[in-house]
Amino acid sequence: MTVKTIIIKFGGSVITHKAIPYHFNAEITRNLCQDLVTAGGRFVLVHGAGSFGHPLAKKFHLDQGLSREKKDEQVKGAAQTHQSVRDLNGKVIHTLLDVGIPAVSLSPFLFFNSLFGSNLFERILKFGFTPVTFGDVVLKDDNITIYSGDFLMKKIALELNPEKAIFVTDVDGIFPDLQDMTTILTDTTLKEVEKVVLRGSSHPDVTQGMAGKIREIKDMVNKGIEVDIINGQKPRCLLDAIRGHVAGTRIRG
Ligand code: IPE
Repeated sequence: MTVKTIIIKFGGSVITHKAIPYHFNAEITRNLCQDLVTAGGRFVLVHGAGSFGHPLAKKFHLDQGLSREKKDEQVKGAAQTHQSVRDLNGKVIHTLLDVGIPAVSLSPFLFFNSLFGSNLFERILKFGFTPVTFGDVVLKDDNITIYSGDFLMKKIALELNPEKAIFVTDVDGIFPDLQDMTTILTDTTLKEVEKVVLRGSSHPDVTQGMAGKIREIKDMVNKGIEVDIINGQKPRCLLDAIRGHVAGTRIRG
């Protein structure tokens, strides 16, 4: 019998203060990690970059790849960005270890080509470790690009066929009407979600915020995987979602 896994993304806007460079939200992250302990189970974690990654990636135009004239400067910027998201990853890993979760870090820059198609996640999970990966700078063919945490969630979901995927964000879910921020879509379908006009973010986000997320979610839901979007700033919201009570947007079929 295969044990089902839940894959979870801690959004950069939850674990960092997106408007304050390099500000780690230690307490919120700790609460989320504590929810994992209380819930128990098998998890693969992904986290975003927030203010540790987006401003640098934007400054060096890393989302657009290397340009011939600015290549040297961009490579320096890519190295800085990678180290910065690794620093954030270190903070997340230490928080997980502190609450008793045997977290191991998988850097996309170093491992992307061996992360998928090789059963790596399953092998790591079998030992009882919790794999943790994150939005990062990645070498792609003869260029450099950014892989978002949302993209990694999709890749992991398509490989592991998890019980479900939970996106922990700084909003309550998907709003059908942006003039009315009190009502979210609760139990919904992909079709409904796609009809909704998505709001842009005022923060520098090289991976296109909610619009980018929906693109990745689409492939997951089309494969029959439930996707939940919840607000990580609300206490126990993650615990409840893991247990099946989604106080956010639940997307199926
Ligand atoms: C972005 O990852 C990675 C870099 C900018 C290096 P995400 O797109 O997943 O980050 P958040 O969750 O939006 O902050």
